Amino acid sequence: MKRTHHCGQLRLTDEHQQVTLTGWVQTRRDHGGIVFIDLRDREGLTQVVFDPQYNPAAAEASHALRSEFCICIRGRVRPRPEGTINSKLPTGEIEVIADHLEVFNAAETPPFEVSDDTQTSEDLRLQYRYLDLRRPSMFRNLRLRHQVTKAVRDYFDELAFLEVETPMLFKSTPEGAREYLVASRLFPGKFYALPQSPQQFKQLLMVAGVERYFQMARCFRDEDLRADRQPEFTQIDVEMSFIDREDIYRLMEGLMARVWKTALGRDIPTPFPRMTFTDAMNRFGSDKPDTRFGMEMADFTDDFRASAFKVFRSVIDGGGVVKAMNAKGFACATQGQIEALTEAAKSFGAKGLAWIKVEGGKWNSPIVKFFTDAERAALASRLEVTEGDLILFAADQWTNACEILGRIRLLCAQYLQQLGKLTIPADRYDFLWVVDFPLLTFDKEQGRWMSSHHPFTAPVAEDAALLDTDTHRVRGQHYDLVLNGSEIGGGSIRIHQPDLQQKVFDVCEIPRDVAESRFGYFIKAFRYGTPPHGGIALGFDRIMATLVGSPSIRDVIAFPKTAKATDLMTQSPGDVTARQLKDLHIRVVGDEAKPQA
Ligand code: AMO
Ligand code: AMP
Repeated sequence: MKRTHHCGQLRLTDEHQQVTLTGWVQTRRDHGGIVFIDLRDREGLTQVVFDPQYNPAAAEASHALRSEFCICIRGRVRPRPEGTINSKLPTGEIEVIADHLEVFNAAETPPFEVSDDTQTSEDLRLQYRYLDLRRPSMFRNLRLRHQVTKAVRDYFDELAFLEVETPMLFKSTPEGAREYLVASRLFPGKFYALPQSPQQFKQLLMVAGVERYFQMARCFRDEDLRADRQPEFTQIDVEMSFIDREDIYRLMEGLMARVWKTALGRDIPTPFPRMTFTDAMNRFGSDKPDTRFGMEMADFTDDFRASAFKVFRSVIDGGGVVKAMNAKGFACATQGQIEALTEAAKSFGAKGLAWIKVEGGKWNSPIVKFFTDAERAALASRLEVTEGDLILFAADQWTNACEILGRIRLLCAQYLQQLGKLTIPADRYDFLWVVDFPLLTFDKEQGRWMSSHHPFTAPVAEDAALLDTDTHRVRGQHYDLVLNGSEIGGGSIRIHQPDLQQKVFDVCEIPRDVAESRFGYFIKAFRYGTPPHGGIALGFDRIMATLVGSPSIRDVIAFPKTAKATDLMTQSPGDVTARQLKDLHIRVVGDEAKPQA
């Protein structure tokens, strides 16, 4: 029997038709001999009736059916009787009265009900991912991902981009995140590395004259995982020749507009606003500011220079800053919440979290006694303080103070949302370019300058001359695309002149022989007529998670890893045989004592 329709297809207009449906038993209800089945396939549900009066054999067989049996039925479409119509279901006006049943495969009792209403642990869902993916919302996510992938490919194709595959077996370039290594069998002690991104290959494709490249690129990073990070993930990877930053902005804005239109039918306004890194840090305490709500921070360093409050005074004397923000309406914070905020601030590296509650017309705080009228007036006016507000402070070196208060800002927003005092509409999309990052950041641990992004990023042209003298002031031609406080992409205009590249390596104190052994082939290529070029990579999984409204990218990846980078279904990473290890010239530390298999 071949199916004639899918389970979301039949309507009243199909009355009397003889049909064949295939799918899975969602539910089975026995009404005194008459059995009702909700039959599910990826497109929907259809009610099937087995009635002994109509077809005794099929009705008898239907008693064996249980949830998740995979079956085929044949029958006739008829209107549902008055009062049993289900207006929530597209097929809710009809049912199929069955005259034939075939069971393809019975099912053991599933570990959880296959339905969007089931509350079950994510571990169990991942262990039985094939059942989890039967849930309509998960299938919807897979289908949407496919549709968006297609829209992305169409967009780039229309603009004459080529999709080029780059190698998965690459070599180790220990500059960025930790890599996954692959042992070589033919060369004892040598390793491939899985690419963290196709960065070098896409630039080499520009040297090769491809001009416009994109790829739905799989990337691998062995880093600490979070809800928005997976050890393998997908980038929309792009590189172009003979362009500047403006071209990339326009290209990506067009892409996002196409994607939002395709996925949600939404027109998103372009161009996206732009904010410098310094502004983003000063106002939102983050290089990926969530601009869907205010609660902006302000700088009060000048106001507290002569403060009687020693904490502020000594930080300022030590070259630090005092930042404050107003959590509007949060004077009602409980003792527990204030303590939780303080603990959070400390976990981000703060020495404390000073606060003032504005209640009953008074400023309540252990520190307010130190403040002069002028200091209070400055806070009141610049933070627009009114009754019911909570003022929070961070005093520290600039970067720390901004980042600490920035994180406290996000926590306060969560509390205020729970209290119903702040509303962020679920369908609000705040895109934003963050630009003018410092090209290099001083790494205190290593005691040297390091690339803020990667060493191939070009400095802003007029800043390049400052590389030796005012290193911290050199801005990079780097840009990040931020959506609702999440970094969904980043890229840059690249260095295409070998001497400038060498200069950047020198400033970063990467010894010439090290640069040569790591990137020699790359720098060499740049001596053979390299076009000016630049590009970007977008985190495709993060974009998909936003589109489906999920907080975790695991919901938009068919077979994701857990937060510990394991696959609960296949039990990976797993053991390998002693023979495999021997072939790869690998001995596992501590294994020598084990009996050899
Ligand atoms: P970057 O490292 O910023 O840039 O990565 C680009 C985007 O990829 C996403 N992303 C991730 N998504 C899921 N899981 C992860 N572990 C993960 N890590 C990163 C983020 C990020 O913005 N080669 C450069 C791009 C370039 O310069 O063209 C690069 O990889 O959304
Ligand atoms: P103390 O004088 O150390 O008791 O601190 C008084 C208040 O200032 C407490 O609420 C501390 O949490 C807070 N505080 C201490 N250090 C800092 C800092 N660097 N930034 C902001 N607040 C701080």
